[in-house]
Amino acid sequence: MVQVHDKKFRPFISREAIQKRVAELGRQIDHDYEGLRPLFIAVLNGSFVFASDLFRCITIEAEISFIKLASYKGTTSTGNVVTAIGMEENLHQRHVILLEDIIDTGKTLSAFVPELLSRQPASLRIASFLTKPEALKYDIKADYAGFEVPNKFVVGYGLDYDGLGRNLPELYELAE
Ligand code: XMP
Ligand code: MG
Repeated sequence: MVQVHDKKFRPFISREAIQKRVAELGRQIDHDYEGLRPLFIAVLNGSFVFASDLFRCITIEAEISFIKLASYKGTTSTGNVVTAIGMEENLHQRHVILLEDIIDTGKTLSAFVPELLSRQPASLRIASFLTKPEALKYDIKADYAGFEVPNKFVVGYGLDYDGLGRNLPELYELAE
């Protein structure tokens, strides 16, 4: 068990299992993007550990860049608008792979994907370290998914509980 702030978390997915799965995703992406020089865009802060491990499993020519997402109330009926901070790359005609730590309800990405598509990439896929199928409420799907997790709060491997826990090398789940 580890303590993060006021809560206890128990080991959930080991470092070895994570490394094995991330390497599999790397091989799959290598295979799918050969000759296309994909541009990985990692969403900070949560995905930085996943992005670092996955990118080093990629052996084809590839680029990586990092962004932060900021959401604000939109003026349209669609509600929140999510924009990228730090996006300097021209996405036009690029094969983009968005890297996320976790897709929970899918709200963040469902708001951000249209913004990315408006920059006219040649293709757009999503690679998420984790997905929470039971929590999903929006029409968003990871093309490459590391692990499906139950609807419980998790920390470690880049994911935080109120700022702490990102440095834990394995994944932990909340212990009730
Ligand atoms: P949505 O609902 O927009 O949420 O898909 C995605 C963002 O919510 C955060 N999140 C978590 N962070 N443990 C975390 O440390 C979790 O179990 C968890 N569930 C959601 C995360 O920042 C993600 O990008
Ligand atoms: Mg996040």
